[in-house]
Formats: sequence, structure tokens, C-alpha cells
Amino acid sequence: MIDAGIRSAVLLVGGLGTRLRPLTYARPKPILPVVNIPLVGHQLLWFAAQGVRRVRLAAGYGAEQVREELSRRDWGLTVEVIVEEQPLDTAGALKLAGGDLHEPFFATNGDILLNAPLAPMAAAQAAAGATASILLRRVDDVSHYGLVVRDDVGHVAAFLEKQPTDPSGQNTVNAGVYLLQPDALDFVPEGTSWSVERQLYPDLLAAGRTVLGHVPEAPYYWLDVGRMETYLQAHLDLLDGAVEWFEPDVAPGDEVTGAWRGLGPLAMGEGCSIGDGAILGPNVCLGRNVKIGAGAQVASSVLWDGAEVGEGARLEKVIVAGDARVGAGQTLFDRIVMGP
Ligand code: GDD
Ligand code: MG
Repeated sequence: MIDAGIRSAVLLVGGLGTRLRPLTYARPKPILPVVNIPLVGHQLLWFAAQGVRRVRLAAGYGAEQVREELSRRDWGLTVEVIVEEQPLDTAGALKLAGGDLHEPFFATNGDILLNAPLAPMAAAQAAAGATASILLRRVDDVSHYGLVVRDDVGHVAAFLEKQPTDPSGQNTVNAGVYLLQPDALDFVPEGTSWSVERQLYPDLLAAGRTVLGHVPEAPYYWLDVGRMETYLQAHLDLLDGAVEWFEPDVAPGDEVTGAWRGLGPLAMGEGCSIGDGAILGPNVCLGRNVKIGAGAQVASSVLWDGAEVGEGARLEKVIVAGDARVGAGQTLFDRIVMGP
């Protein structure tokens, strides 16, 4: 991927992850495993691939767990975790974590997966002398997102968080990736709860600052991993090769290994043991040291490290979280199974 020429990024990862409960009781959202690496790790790899060298994570809920988990591998850039004593909302958190930066920096919602190249956005911001840019995405249903309305030269005219419909018909929403000049944070008071979406951007527009809405020329992969459906979807997409810099440990499809059968796509961490006659896949991701009993059948499911599935169990669209066990012979559909 092309170097975007921007060396720093601040990732917002301090939310409570309420829509992903109960999974986020076990692990905070940024380190939920997504094809066996932490969710935010996918963004770290994406940033490293386009020349970012220093990332600060604006963390809150579960910050110590996040720090420990991310320290286990080299992401190709420096990672620093900045902890909020209490949630400062998105702009307050950016001010705390990035207020001392003296160069333009990327800022993102840490819960999205994407593969858009950022070099064109950086070039457009420099050429226009803009204070900020927002990566945009066209969607059919704008209601879950921040609606961003642009004028005919691509400058943001309005930023309206979570509206039912877009009267302008543009249907472009905030993809959760920003490029900010350092003075954008002059608009955010220190140590105060302040919102990027509801306060910072509307205030920049009211002050007459130029904010660019950037729609990449080529279509790009993008997913907000904020809900259970999108958590499972993330696995299907990445197993399917949605982003080019991440290669999961995918077992070859349609393989008969000894006495069990794998139907690709199927990813498997180290140390798994699979019983005779089991059928795994398609779209299954096993963490490390997962045990699958003889004759079990698992499809479209995610099993975290240490999970166990008893003999003859059948699982479809199931998430088996940390150290949980599915009993022999159980049939589960569209469920989350938590450990003790
Ligand atoms: N540090 C910190 N402190 N981080 C926070 C806080 C906070 O108080 N509140 C939220 N965050 C982080 C979350 O952890 C998440 O990574 C990110 O900010 C966005 O919060 P979400 O709660 O996931 O917001 P959303 O998905 O409903 O909406 C946002 O994302 C959409 C695109 O994914 C908005 O930015 C929308 O405008 C956008 O379209
Ligand atoms: Mg989100």
C-alpha cells in the first residue's frame, strides 16, 4: 500500500462495547479476537502498511488488558496506550491522547475494519489547506452512522450524527477515519467530555474551517465491528480474503485430515485437537488449543482459545468464548456460549 506520509495516529478504543455484551465482559472490544488476532490489531497492520510509525490508543474500559494483549507481538509500529480515568467521549479522548502532537495525524474509531488507502486523503487535505478530512462511505441505511453532507466541491457542509434518512440523497456516512491538523484540537476543551461527531465537527464548520469529505475512487472494504452480527461477519469476510495484508492461518479447504473433514474457509490456531468424524466449516475460526469432540459439526462459528465442543454437538452461527464448553450432543444455532 502507498505511504500516506503521515506518521502518527490516535485510535479511539475506550468505549464500553455495550452492543457486544456479553463478549465484552470477558474481553474489551479492541482485543476481541477477530480471526485470531485482536480486533484493533487489524487497524495497526493497516496503518503500518501505509507508513504510520506511532499509534496512540485512547483507551478506557479494559485498558490494562488491552495493553497486555497488544504487547505480545510486534505490529510494525510503536503502540502507546493512554488511559482515561473516566470516559471523555471521542473528542475529549483525542485531546488527551493527541493534544501534544505537532503534525497532522490520523484518528480513527478503533472498531472498524477496512482496507482503504489513505494517501489520496492526505494529499487532498494538504492541497486544500483543510483543517480536517473525513473518510466517507456510501450506504443504503444511514441510521446507524454519522451522516456527512458535502457541497459540490467536496467540502463538508453538515455533520449530522445518527439521522433516520439523508434528505440530500448523498447517503455518505462517516467511516470513522479522520485526518486532523493539530490545531483542530484547539476546538476541544481539556479534560472535558466532548464529542467529535456532535461538537468538534459542527464547531469547525461553524468557525468557517474547511473540512473535506473524502470518498475514495475505488470501492473499499469496510465494517464497523460493533454488533454481534458484524462480529461474525468480520470473520466471514477476513477468511474470504477481504483485506490484502492479513493472511489468516487458513487450513486448505475440503481437506480430509486423518479422520476429520475441513470445509474451507477454515482458520485454526496452534494446538487444536479434532476428534474422529468431525466436520469443520465452512467459515469456521478456531483459536488456539480448541478441542472438538468426535463427530461434532461446526459451521459459520467462532471458537476462542481453549474452547471445547463435546462429541456429536452441532453448532451453526455460534460464538464460544474464552474457555467455554459445549456439552456432548448439544445443538446450538445463533448463540453465544460464555465460559464459567
Ligand atoms: N477513549 C474513548 N473514550 N473512546 C471512546 C469513547 C470515550 O469516551 N466513546 C467511544 N469511544 C470509541 C469506541 O471505543 C469506538 O472505537 C469509537 O469511539 C466509536 O464509538 P462507537 O460507540 O463504536 O460509535 P458508533 O459505531 O455508534 O458510531 C461512530 O462510528 C460510525 C462508523 O463506524 C460514529 O463516529 C459515527 O459517526 C460513524 O458513522
Ligand atoms: Mg462503532
